[in-house]
Amino acid sequence: MPLKEIIERIEFLRTEINRHNYNYYVASAPTISDFEFDKLLEELITLETEYPQFADSNSPTMRVGGEITKEFRQVRHKYSMLSLGNTYSPEELTDFDQRVQKLLGEPYEYICELKYDGVAIGLTYINGVLTQAVTRGDGESGDDVTNNVRTIHSVPLKLKGTDFPAEFEIRGEIMLPRKSFNRLNDERIELGYEPFANPRNAASGSLKMQDSAEVAKRRLDCFLYFILGEGLPYLNHFENLKKAREWGFNIPNYMVKSQDINGVLDFISAWNIDRKELPFDIDGVVIKVNSIEQQQKLGFTAKSPRWAIAYKFNPERALTRLLSVAFQVGRTGAVTPVANLDPVQLAGTVVKRASLHNADIIRELDVRIGDMIYVEKGGEIIPKIVGREISQRPENAIEFVFITVCPECNTPLVRTEGEAANYCPNENGCPPQIKGRLEHFISRKAMDINSLGEGKIEILYNNHLVNDLADLYDLTYDKLLGIEKVLASAEGKEKRISLREKSVRNILDGLAASKGAPFEKVLYALGIRYVGETVAKKLARHFQQIEKLETASFDELITVPEIGDKIAGSIIKYFLDEKNILIVKRLKEHSLQFSADYQVNTEDNKLNGASFVVTGVFAEFSRDELKAEIEKYGGRNVSSVSSKTNFIIAGDGMGPSKRKKAEELGITILTEEEFIQMIIRS
Ligand code: IVH
Repeated sequence: MPLKEIIERIEFLRTEINRHNYNYYVASAPTISDFEFDKLLEELITLETEYPQFADSNSPTMRVGGEITKEFRQVRHKYSMLSLGNTYSPEELTDFDQRVQKLLGEPYEYICELKYDGVAIGLTYINGVLTQAVTRGDGESGDDVTNNVRTIHSVPLKLKGTDFPAEFEIRGEIMLPRKSFNRLNDERIELGYEPFANPRNAASGSLKMQDSAEVAKRRLDCFLYFILGEGLPYLNHFENLKKAREWGFNIPNYMVKSQDINGVLDFISAWNIDRKELPFDIDGVVIKVNSIEQQQKLGFTAKSPRWAIAYKFNPERALTRLLSVAFQVGRTGAVTPVANLDPVQLAGTVVKRASLHNADIIRELDVRIGDMIYVEKGGEIIPKIVGREISQRPENAIEFVFITVCPECNTPLVRTEGEAANYCPNENGCPPQIKGRLEHFISRKAMDINSLGEGKIEILYNNHLVNDLADLYDLTYDKLLGIEKVLASAEGKEKRISLREKSVRNILDGLAASKGAPFEKVLYALGIRYVGETVAKKLARHFQQIEKLETASFDELITVPEIGDKIAGSIIKYFLDEKNILIVKRLKEHSLQFSADYQVNTEDNKLNGASFVVTGVFAEFSRDELKAEIEKYGGRNVSSVSSKTNFIIAGDGMGPSKRKKAEELGITILTEEEFIQMIIRS
């Protein structure tokens, strides 16, 4: 194809992809299938790779991130980034309206908007191109997070049309929709990280990540609500925002015009209820005087505009009595206090129990048994205790003491440095830990033995038939038939249920079938702390045999993509325990799958077992991604440079001593670019 046609095709693809991105992420009305979209994107990626001379940092292919920001640059805001005054009641809002009325002395109208609960951001566009994204910081200057913001699909990198001011700033809120928040937290829990407390913290944490490729995976969104600059198209806020929507900005549809404060109050009442239906969090509404001329007339106080105000919703909260505190021991031995409450209605459900998290939080809250306490829906999901009403404390309220021994097995609890939870260390003798491990083992994502469930595990355990995972496979027809569970019936009489022939057959068939479960599932089923489904998959693929994993050193483990210190430490600890080694040995004798042959086909085996050390910081890939690429193409990651190392991929900041050693050993040092060429070209 002649170059002219290539340029035209690239331009066409970029415009098309931008248009579909807008339809999908901003207008929520896609017009092509994901498959068709991916085809366009793939074609553009291929052309841009083949013709790097036509690369453009605003191309839609650049959304995947890859830039590393070691330290965020501080940038002074052109216009101070003030916050808003808050009101909490209709009376306070009416006071605001009266101030506006008095100061203006002429008719005016309000625009009511939702108050998005995220992180404030200011985006600068010069000649229609995003040039800078800055957080609020102290209001005068903030962090330059442009690289990270560029990965958010609803933020246009290049504007549509031509009628925008040559330079302007648009402000809004970066948010994490609840669905993405829940997904992110699930992943974090699986990888052994602390989950984020709420979507706002998660959005804020994401914006400050050093690796923009990681930010790209978080699926942040951005709503815009305020435009500033010279030469704006209209003299009022509402029309300007509507125009900005045409330029490609994600201007929320939840805006209404109101001629007086009553309309504002109606908007508030409606959203106070409907907010639960939104896919993201809001914490109130914002009311703004529409006319820019009137906004200028009203001006600012030292802290906030006089032409706008926030109305904050009360978080959904209920007052009830704390009746008692029970302690639960989980599969991992973590002991969590659970509050039993006088049942109370909260955000559409009756709440009877609430989380107290850990000893530190209980101390901080100073709650006592018998206290009237406030419960809130934390992130609207699990109710938590947030405070107590000291004026209603009964005289006989009992001070709360965190137990020092396990409520299930009396073993003294331990607390690991740096962790808030208390643990029962009696892994192999504490009933809920043993039963929890068995339940995990049979669960759907693990060995998937659905003929066994919580109830059956309880029967087997109580009848001393199973105590560890391998015992399950020692079960026989004769051992199982007729075993009983004793239930206390409502009349106080004992009722016995026993395992019949059919259940016994089902259990044995289920166990036999589970022997076909692949290595990665078996590895996950073992219940090694912090080894969730994804980690198990990565480990299985990397080591391919349990023996290799069993003997892997800490350094070897952390060369596996996404395996950090915490997970590596936990794996080492697991295999240091003779009991675990024995369980694995017995499971192996029962023919469970402890190896896997993940055939690398020749095309994907370009690196042919060569060993790589990845060091420094890179522009295109994160270190983990590079390691993943190495494995994908049949190479091996090693942690330190030795005479056996074949290649070093050196990024910024590779230490001089490492370089010297590599040179002495005659190891080939590759740049990131050279490595990419190696896997693409060879
Ligand atoms: S307007 C000068 N509109 O709330 C006026 N702010 O507590 C600038 N916020 O800093 C703000 N939704 O981060 C405005 N629809 C909305 C908003 C909104 C959320 C945030 C924003 C602001 C904070 C003030």
